[in-house]
Amino acid sequence: MTLKDKQGRKHDYLRISVTDRCNLRCVYCMGDDGIEQTSHEAILSYEDILKVVTAGAELGISKIRITGGEPLVRKDLVQLIEMIAAVPGVTDLAMTTNGTLLSRYAEALKRAGLNRVNISLDTLQADKYQIITRCGKLEDAMKGIEYALQYGLEPVKLNTVLMKGINDDEVVDFLQLAREKPLHIRFIEYMQIGDHDRGYSSHYLPLSFVEKAAEKAGLPLTPVPLPGGAGPAESYSIPGGKGTIGLIHPISKHFCDSCNRLRLTAEGSLKACLYWQDEKPVHTVLHDKAALQDLIKEVLGGKPVEHQMAADGNCSTINPGTMRSMSKTGG
Ligand code: 5AD
Ligand code: SF4
Repeated sequence: MTLKDKQGRKHDYLRISVTDRCNLRCVYCMGDDGIEQTSHEAILSYEDILKVVTAGAELGISKIRITGGEPLVRKDLVQLIEMIAAVPGVTDLAMTTNGTLLSRYAEALKRAGLNRVNISLDTLQADKYQIITRCGKLEDAMKGIEYALQYGLEPVKLNTVLMKGINDDEVVDFLQLAREKPLHIRFIEYMQIGDHDRGYSSHYLPLSFVEKAAEKAGLPLTPVPLPGGAGPAESYSIPGGKGTIGLIHPISKHFCDSCNRLRLTAEGSLKACLYWQDEKPVHTVLHDKAALQDLIKEVLGGKPVEHQMAADGNCSTINPGTMRSMSKTGG
């Protein structure tokens, strides 16, 4: 079965935020004082998440990504992975994590059926890591990356949000990392998401910056097919690289016309687009699979053609974008 929206875009991908809590407080994700946390009772239970996955899988959802906040701070996450991996029709199960707890869980996650991880890493400098994450230790994230490689949670992709004046001086260091290790580094354009002002417009930088820096360093980017299937990233090889470089431009070249994803928030609402406010809670239909499937189709039916994020931070004025922080929606 294939799920399609009004634009004819095939949807086979569900991203599930399992918690809005996080052990870090990245500057582009949360304000200084973190976010207002959802109470434990308001978070969708694993049984209920499984109902959504099962209903979705029957409709054609085959790829699942677990996100947060930080998924690994939620209790017994390995159990959820095991439950989802066993759902017929789910062929790709991935997780986005900050990696700081992976050394503890990588082996169990792999055994439970997790295929691969994307790890957020915006700097290779310990002091800067502490500033960007407000409280994290670079060595914990680096250890997590090593464990992910060791236990075969591959391809291991790193998510690097490019920020002017913060990590734009490290582009070549990241390229070197992708030369030395089988790591797929995906530079992401900084998006203005959520309601806290983080000096967005002074830190936004289009990803053409990465292409120019690579060229200048004698490591020009050559387009290659994407490891681990399609997605919004354009993928490139670099000379002598064991890994690859990906560029994800939600702002300067948005990829809405190939969008294949739905999202389930930690509180249990379905969203068809990361950007817009529209969402529908699943709670009232969880007991009835047919009604749940109708709701999935309804949300997809209302999917907007595109988002309206803009580089100057002046997004749509007619219909405002979401005020949820990224940690509530799931990246
Ligand atoms: N802009 C771009 N990417 C972001 N992420 C979180 N907030 C933002 C933002 N404002 C990314 C992080 C993380 C993923 C979940 O989402 O890099 O890896
Ligand atoms: Fe946590 Fe990820 Fe947000 Fe950083 S970006 S604070 S790691 S949820």
